Amino acid sequence: MTQPLTIALSKGRILDDTLPLLAEAGIHPAEDINKSRKLIFDTNHEHIKLVVIRATDVPTYVEYGAADLGVSGKDVLLEYDSDNLCEPLDLNIATCRLMTAGVKGVPLPAGRIKVATKFVNVAKRYFAEQGRQVDIIKLYGGMELAPIMGLADLIVDIVDTGNTLKANGLEARDLIAPVSSRLVASRAAMKVKHAQIQPIIDQIGAAVERQK
Ligand code: ADP
Ligand code: PRP
Ligand code: MG
Repeated sequence: MTQPLTIALSKGRILDDTLPLLAEAGIHPAEDINKSRKLIFDTNHEHIKLVVIRATDVPTYVEYGAADLGVSGKDVLLEYDSDNLCEPLDLNIATCRLMTAGVKGVPLPAGRIKVATKFVNVAKRYFAEQGRQVDIIKLYGGMELAPIMGLADLIVDIVDTGNTLKANGLEARDLIAPVSSRLVASRAAMKVKHAQIQPIIDQIGAAVERQK
């Protein structure tokens, strides 16, 4: 019998792009994920299960081997920053950019600046590379409010259309990293379960190519 294999999916907007890609790869959940309160789903393949969890929790499930593969935004992976994970595929979905942004037309003060973000590790690394002294203020959402309220000089956040920045009187400043969702695996699982994992990677990889 083929050994069971679990794929951890990020719920929310990544899931909306992931399900059509999995369908293209011939992997279909046994029921409508969006209409269910369940967190674990059978598929049309007896050995493949899907779990649907918070985007930020996907790398944790994969790193600890609770899931064999995962779908994660590059932003989440940069923030999680683990040497134990690898990214066998760029899925080319949920594309956006990690950027700094500030109040339109307002220059940065000299010296130490305050940066509000939920991407604390990304921001620390980025400003260290820039040689800029910063105080990082951790927020959990709605980062765009922070510069308007005087909580921070800059934010580090996701930008896609730029509509959220514009609607709040902010402007994008510098690109930190382009973002798309990735298929992730643990380096350990890639070795130990290679025979089970590689065919699924190939199947999804072919679907990505067909969607290009
Ligand atoms: P969360 O509650 O974690 O913000 P989302 O459903 O907004 O969940 O999805 C978060 C992920 O989707 C991010 O990690 C990023 O990879 C991607 N993403 C977030 N915002 C956008 C956007 N505006 N456009 C495209 N992709 C986005
Ligand atoms: C994301 C992100 C930005 C916005 C960018 O927020 O944090 O606020 O999308 O997209 P845009 O450039 O197209 O406007 P989201 O809608 O996911 O809200 P959240 O704070 O609940 O994550
Ligand atoms: Mg969001």
